[in-house]
Amino acid sequence: MASALQYPLPFLLLILLLLYPTAAQTPGNISLGSSLTAQRNDPYWASLSGDFAFGFQQIGQGGYLLAIWFNKIQEKTVVWSANGDNLAPRGSKVELTINGQLVLCDPTGKEIWKAHLDSSRVAYAAMLDSGNLVLASTDTVYLWQSFDNPTDTILPTKTLRQPGKLVSRYSKTSYSNGRFQFTVKPDGNLVLETRAFPMDSSNEAYWSSKTVGSGFQVVFNQSGSVYLAARNGSILKMISSDAGSTEDFYQRAILEYDGVFRHYLYPKSTTISRSGRWPEAWSPLSSFIPSNICGDITQGTGSGACGFNSYCTLGNDQRPNCHCPEGYTFIDPDDVVKGCKQNFQPQSCDEAFPETDSFDIRSLINTDWPLSDYEHFLEQTEDWCRQACLADCFCAVAIFRNGECWKKKIPLSNGRMESTVGGIALIKIRKENSTSKPSDADSKDKDRSTLILLGSVLLSSSVFLNFLLLLAAFLIVFRFNHWKPKVLQSYEVMPGVNLRSFTYEELNKATNGFKEELGNGSFATVYKGALESDNRELVAVKKLYNMVRQGDQEFKTELSAIGRTNHRNLVQLLGFCNEGEHRILVYEFMRHGSLASFLFGGSRPNWYQRMQIALGTARGLFYLHEECSTQIIHCDIKPQNILVDDYLTARISDFGLAKLLKTDQTRTATGIRGTKGYVAPEWFRNMPVTVKVDVYSFGILLLEIICCRKNFEAEVQDENEMILADWAYDCYKDRKLDLVVANDKEAMDDMKRVEIYVMIAVWCIQEDPSLRPTMKKVVQMMEGAVEVLVPPDPSSFMSSI
Ligand SMILES: *[C@@H]1O[C@H](CO)[C@@H](O)[C@H](O)[C@H]1NC(C)=O
Ligand SMILES: *[C@@H]1O[C@H](CO)[C@@H](O)[C@H](O)[C@H]1NC(C)=O
Ligand SMILES: *[C@@H]1O[C@H](CO)[C@@H](O)[C@H](O)[C@H]1NC(C)=O
Ligand SMILES: *[C@@H]1O[C@H](CO)[C@@H](O)[C@H](O)[C@H]1NC(C)=O
Repeated sequence: MASALQYPLPFLLLILLLLYPTAAQTPGNISLGSSLTAQRNDPYWASLSGDFAFGFQQIGQGGYLLAIWFNKIQEKTVVWSANGDNLAPRGSKVELTINGQLVLCDPTGKEIWKAHLDSSRVAYAAMLDSGNLVLASTDTVYLWQSFDNPTDTILPTKTLRQPGKLVSRYSKTSYSNGRFQFTVKPDGNLVLETRAFPMDSSNEAYWSSKTVGSGFQVVFNQSGSVYLAARNGSILKMISSDAGSTEDFYQRAILEYDGVFRHYLYPKSTTISRSGRWPEAWSPLSSFIPSNICGDITQGTGSGACGFNSYCTLGNDQRPNCHCPEGYTFIDPDDVVKGCKQNFQPQSCDEAFPETDSFDIRSLINTDWPLSDYEHFLEQTEDWCRQACLADCFCAVAIFRNGECWKKKIPLSNGRMESTVGGIALIKIRKENSTSKPSDADSKDKDRSTLILLGSVLLSSSVFLNFLLLLAAFLIVFRFNHWKPKVLQSYEVMPGVNLRSFTYEELNKATNGFKEELGNGSFATVYKGALESDNRELVAVKKLYNMVRQGDQEFKTELSAIGRTNHRNLVQLLGFCNEGEHRILVYEFMRHGSLASFLFGGSRPNWYQRMQIALGTARGLFYLHEECSTQIIHCDIKPQNILVDDYLTARISDFGLAKLLKTDQTRTATGIRGTKGYVAPEWFRNMPVTVKVDVYSFGILLLEIICCRKNFEAEVQDENEMILADWAYDCYKDRKLDLVVANDKEAMDDMKRVEIYVMIAVWCIQEDPSLRPTMKKVVQMMEGAVEVLVPPDPSSFMSSI
């Protein structure tokens, strides 16, 4: 007794606490016979400091995960789990049994998971402050520890010793074993490998430390460095360092579900930094492996970073994003790595019904599926490659690069789009209105068999039953017939008729304080942004100035007219902000920029691509003039306002803005909408402004597309060539059109079309608006459906005034 009194009082209190019957709940230690039951409040045992907890976490509605997590932060980030492949139902129990076994059982007592250990000397378990859960003997020897059985994460003080491995989880929200692993191989190499999902075996490595014979263990040390060390402790490969101390930051290194090994930090206290706020989330260090997950996985089997038939792009945050090419959709939009399926009936290989006219090619630049080749040709043109794929029923995609053509088969694997790929992917898809015969016949057969079945049932039953069956049959057939066209339609009809309203703060955040400027004009500046709420989808945010002072209602009316438009050759408006003096429009982002940089920049598009762009622009304008519910005159058609999407499709931007700006569509004395050179003459004269002003601008644009040069160029040898419109008309008149496309072999080989397109352009730039064709007629002439007559001299009208 006397000796006990020598100890200070707090220590005695601690001892008393430890001896108290609920010792099982004492932070840190878990005594034999303790248990936790999976229920609503996510029960757990915490470590002494409270930093970590071991217990149940409910995962969606799927069940409970027995796990260890960071317990002092908002996001209870899981660092280890026992049953990711087999979630436990509510009422399941984890117990440290009297004889020292750690077991998870479902409510019926069936075992779900168990800590495998050989010894029966377990005296207690403890959740340590390092995040390690241990089963220990009376003399504190660890007989089992979670650090020795890691899932996808390692924590500071943890070493991953040969032949240890981490297996990524399947997705952000699914803790079951996924598609990648991080292994210290018995030969000493540290590798990242794809797994032969769902099996446990691995495919080839997509990253390696190249340390065969010397590597021994991955160390995550107390000061936050992660490295591969040799047996004697020397560092062979630094993975990440200079992370900041483990005193100030929670840290974890994880092989994530996307196949990238990253090291994350989370400040322990929000008061560490006096200057500014710390992010309230995990932030990754800038060093991670591999450096480019989209491009680094290249192996014979498996789909690559994304699923089959999809392609991968690396986001600004270096994360992989998976996409389907046009004509394909995700098999499961909630699980994109399952890949993409074709939305159309593949081409028939039946020689009696060659379907060569039923397919079209869409181009996707800088894209490749490097491992799906079955034929390779040298020294060919892009057009040859396109035709070769169209004519071959096995060909799904052809890649054309530097005169070489590769034909690719389904399923396409390891797809990626990045600027270093070069070349162009030619994707074969069925034309929108060409439905294949077999599928039609198929569905009719199905209809008929339903009826036959019902008929035979009707013949053999009572009248009342017959009535019920008839009703049911009617409902089924009715539903079937109504359901089917909807499904077919759903990929043609684009979403976006509903415009989203953004707050200024949201857009300020999305653009990082309006930081990255994409371009500016007389009435707006455009910034690049990423929407937090939409998976960081990239957007173009257009801030308008010089707005006409007008009521909210008018602004909304104009916007809804723009929002109701829906055409593949228009840039889609996604939403707007109308707050105080701010008038901002949010558009889909076109990463390849405008036609101006494309046409007049370094890599000029080829003749075929240019013709597609010209036709697309014409179709978009035709739609604005005649096909959408409110007629829209663009008033500012020029190459800067035509954007190019991933498929090299022309997309008209900035339409419908004329009424929102200072000058309205009826010309005023104060200013002229439109851009010099593309502006129709009636703007300067006392004449009404009609859709024909756009036709004029289109004519100039068409000439620029044909010749790949600007309408006005001061630096030319012959001053007759300074203004393209004049020069092209002179060349046409003198039958010397080859001059305007000199140096363009593909166009020279297609002189008939060059001539027709120049003639169309000359019609469009007639001084007399009434002589200019409508955009409908322009489209028909370009498609060859209507004959193009010899145009008069464009300026004859002016001289007659
Ligand atoms: C847990 O129990 C062991 C053995 O009884 C003891 O040595 C250790 O100090 C205890 N730890 C805590 C945090 O109570
Ligand atoms: C430790 O091992 C590595 C690789 O096996 C070797 O290159 C290095 O020289 C060794 N260093 C010492 C100090 O033994
Ligand atoms: C952790 O590793 C780094 C890099 O080698 C080293 O500078 C640091 O001293 C190590 N920290 C500890 C606590 O061993
Ligand atoms: C299919 O569409 C093309 C143009 O895209 C058109 O020329 C053709 O007439 C259409 N065919 C049918 C059957 O509608």
